[in-house]
Amino acid sequence: MKYFGFTLFMLCAFLVIHAQKITSIVIETSDNGLLLQTDKDGRLCTAYFGKRLSDTASYNNIAGQYHYEDENSSLTNNAYTPAGTWNIMEPAIEIEHADGNQSLELKYISHSIKSETNDTRITSIILRDPVYGTEVTLFYKTYYRDNVVEQWSVIRNKEKKEIVLKKYASANLYFSRDRYFLRHYHGVWANEMKPEESELTAGMKVLDSKLGTRANLFQPPSFLLSFGRPATEEDGEVLLGTLGWTGNFRIDFEKDNFDNLRLIAGINPYASAYHLAPEASFQTPSFIYSYSQKGKGNASRNLHRWARNYRIPDGNGPRLTLLNNWEATYFDFDEKKLVNLFQGAKDIGVDMFLLDDGWFGNKYPRNDDKAGLGDWQENRKKLPNGIGYLVKEATKAGIKFGIWVEPEMVNPKSELYEKHPEWVIRQPKRKEYYFRNQLVLDMSNPLVQQFVFNILDSLFIKNPDLAFIKWDCNSVIYNAHSDYLQKKKIPQSHLYVEYVKGLYTVLAKIRSKYPHVPMMLCSGGGGRVDYEALKYFTEFWPSDNTDPYERIFIQWENSYFFPSITSCNHVTDWSKVSLKFKTDVAMMGKLGFDIVVDKLSASDKEFARNALTNYKDISDLVWHGDLYRLADPNINSYASLMYVNEKKDNAVMFNYLTQRRYDPGVNAEPVKIVGLDPEKEYLVKEINLYPGESSPLGNEKAYTGEFLMKNGLNPVLGQKRQSVVISIRPSSALSR
Ligand code: DGJ
Repeated sequence: MKYFGFTLFMLCAFLVIHAQKITSIVIETSDNGLLLQTDKDGRLCTAYFGKRLSDTASYNNIAGQYHYEDENSSLTNNAYTPAGTWNIMEPAIEIEHADGNQSLELKYISHSIKSETNDTRITSIILRDPVYGTEVTLFYKTYYRDNVVEQWSVIRNKEKKEIVLKKYASANLYFSRDRYFLRHYHGVWANEMKPEESELTAGMKVLDSKLGTRANLFQPPSFLLSFGRPATEEDGEVLLGTLGWTGNFRIDFEKDNFDNLRLIAGINPYASAYHLAPEASFQTPSFIYSYSQKGKGNASRNLHRWARNYRIPDGNGPRLTLLNNWEATYFDFDEKKLVNLFQGAKDIGVDMFLLDDGWFGNKYPRNDDKAGLGDWQENRKKLPNGIGYLVKEATKAGIKFGIWVEPEMVNPKSELYEKHPEWVIRQPKRKEYYFRNQLVLDMSNPLVQQFVFNILDSLFIKNPDLAFIKWDCNSVIYNAHSDYLQKKKIPQSHLYVEYVKGLYTVLAKIRSKYPHVPMMLCSGGGGRVDYEALKYFTEFWPSDNTDPYERIFIQWENSYFFPSITSCNHVTDWSKVSLKFKTDVAMMGKLGFDIVVDKLSASDKEFARNALTNYKDISDLVWHGDLYRLADPNINSYASLMYVNEKKDNAVMFNYLTQRRYDPGVNAEPVKIVGLDPEKEYLVKEINLYPGESSPLGNEKAYTGEFLMKNGLNPVLGQKRQSVVISIRPSSALSR
């Protein structure tokens, strides 16, 4: 074996071996390694996916273990499987050439490795069809420290005429293990993120969506894949994967004839054949994954750290606590009512007031969800002095002001619809189908993009102190048809893709002009969270369901993929449980309220005020700390989780009773704590107590980390103590 190239750069090592005709490419993060290797015919294959080998030369031995002479073994482990030639499995890419031919072969041409920072590298590998010249570049961006990999591909047409992309996945992974367990999600409005975990059997399992405007509602593009056996929080081999695409997605899991697993993730090719002009290229979205041999907790903490450091705007910064008026008023408000609510917001101590739906429309006032969407002028009856007046009044009350918009949508009962029916996605000769009485604007049309940008831009121009945007999106795409694409003679099958690209164009433009304004990604519940949208949004709304019992589960499952700083959790009147329980549940993420403060009893108000003060103390831990899930509510009758800072000297633990039936000994066992330093001593105290309530945990007590981790800590949950929040701080804090 002879090495032609060898690069070892600080923490990350990329090994390039050219041995006879075989090229090997090693892609590594601090814990993990992926070996790609050409077979005797020059096709790129996955030879290894697992733990990083400390001696990089050992990858060579793995390479030696692969028998490329055995035709079959090289057939299924292709790194980007083409259709129409030798492949008889699910393809990652399917093309129709200019002459109508549907075959594709991809051979390795070259690769390069670019170090972006000390922590990030991009390996790009060029593959080419020897007959038609079609070129595919596979990109692997590694985040070394966080063990996260982002994969995408770029497909280039090298023919003289247009080609058609019929499938164009972002990534094609391959695993050689005995058994695979997939945890994925389903649900519907107010019932999002319901997990299902099962063993993958032979054949195909497909996760997908065809909603058009959003990835999620019924099924999110996020999953956990365990190898060998279902991983636990602290143990087992697991991959957390998610596609960064705010539209139709498709993720294929194919357990092949050798019991190996092929994973193909990308845009859903459903009704989306994409025509590519000569020399044009198509870049797919990113498939992002975090792989760990130390359980789900480690994988998700890595993903969280990556998201805060590299993906979410201001991921390491602060967030605004808020009072939203949606559940407090729905559409029924006017200027006076809103200004009265400001005082309540100030009283309990939130940072901001968020004005929700219903503030616009004159010819067709937005007094319910049947009219007005699209007409973004203040409703003169409700707000005679406009938004500007509200911003001023909020400032006077000592709080910031934010506003709700749903700019991609239109009610048929609106001036916008009357004026621009050609901007609406619909089949002109067919009956219209509505989702929440509304239709979707055609974001593939640059005029619509400009219109959407202008809605936000003019709000900011007129109200420079506007501090927050809640961007909603309640409808899916029915009757997918674009008047704009038709006029431009662009195939209708581009609509789903161009819609999402158009949305990104607008969001990028907004972000370049207003880089720091926090924005919430909302979609009639948790219908729109993905890591491409989270390039532009500081946070998301997981569900309209704010019943804390339900929220524990929804927030828990989202917590595998998204850091808590992104999860907007509001205290509302959705359910009639105690304010403390609602608040404690909301505090495990980004806290907000959606209530009429004046209707609170004096002690509830005092509790809310104290809770917001406590939240200020712990918010750095919740927003930026490492999350340890300690007791899973899917298995136990309670949930426990904890956030710990990097130095492991401060932590906050949340405990929630999840079963509603009477049980005197709900949590008789102490909860074993993970993530502290066994050598350190900690002070433990229950916080967020209701006024007049005392804690069975007593006064602040000192425990060693070892004790808390080995013996555990009993939060003493019970029918009268449905939620318990515990502060854990260094014992040295006492002497300060
Ligand atoms: C759906 C959102 O999820 C709610 O929070 C609220 O903003 C409504 N839309 C307003 O129409």
